[in-house]
Amino acid sequence: MNNLADIYRHLPDQPSEKTLARADYESRHWSSSIPGPLKPGTEDHKRAVAQMFRETFNPYKPSVIAWPKLDPDTLHRITSLPIWDIAVETEGKARLRMAAYASMLDDPDMKDALSRNAWEENRHKEVLTKLVEAYDIKLPPEPDYIEPKDTEWAYLVTGFSECVDSFFAFGLFALAERAGLFPMELIETFEPVMQEECRHILLFANWLAWHRATMPWWKRPWFEARVLAVWVFLGYERVGLARSLDGEGNERAQDNNFTVSGAKDMTNMDIALPDLMQLCLSENDRRFAGYDHRLLRPTTMPNMVRAALAGMKLWNNVAARFTKIKEAA
Ligand SMILES: [Fe+2]
Ligand SMILES: [Fe+2]
Repeated sequence: MNNLADIYRHLPDQPSEKTLARADYESRHWSSSIPGPLKPGTEDHKRAVAQMFRETFNPYKPSVIAWPKLDPDTLHRITSLPIWDIAVETEGKARLRMAAYASMLDDPDMKDALSRNAWEENRHKEVLTKLVEAYDIKLPPEPDYIEPKDTEWAYLVTGFSECVDSFFAFGLFALAERAGLFPMELIETFEPVMQEECRHILLFANWLAWHRATMPWWKRPWFEARVLAVWVFLGYERVGLARSLDGEGNERAQDNNFTVSGAKDMTNMDIALPDLMQLCLSENDRRFAGYDHRLLRPTTMPNMVRAALAGMKLWNNVAARFTKIKEAA
């Protein structure tokens, strides 16, 4: 990680508007110069993945963000969102777990990409820490960040969690922007962070395909069993059964259902669940649209949500017909 810290330390403190606009555009639009198909498991695919991650880097610096002055209502709305402690901790854990997994890898391209991802998670943590300071948000002490014992498991949990959380965050963020309850400067500050999460899960989906394609066949069943176990674990976590401890050892209920409760907190709007899901889907497609189409996209969340929406539609149609038959009888 030291060499990466060195690379990024030399970023200009205050890049010009033009430099920032160009970097922002390039972080959202990228195609590999490598011709032909990019099949997972091939050198070409792996090189393109690492190249994507390097070349779409956005050079914003948390230390120079000008946090806007907020009116009392907006300040209250932000400081009372029940997410800040979990958000800071999640970025801290992601940084540690990604760096730990990257250090285990022998492949230089994947090692480089995952180390950069860990560095960017640390930068997310810095952005959040600066926001917490700027708006005087009181947080419980952070827990100790402990190196995972099972590095691959921890990386899989982090990667799949990001796939789930980013999918919903894309929709919520768009909703918050439309509702106009937060100042535009604040939305703009978090926009690159949001797009960065899109790059992170793009990397994760392609790392996963590469890992599957290059592992010996006899390791595959055990790996797939672990992937399934990760999804069960995430389901358990997200139905609100998981508890965690803060830095003082107090039990804290995790708000893992922030998508539903957060939509109200962030927008003051009542939005029907299918509409929110549809927005998450279209935002997900929009954020991925600029990257080379030969790279894989995360598919589980979009497919699950599409299936749920189709199921709801079918149910509504059946219910409507049933009501008509009942009325006619
Ligand atoms: Fe992050
Ligand atoms: Fe991330």
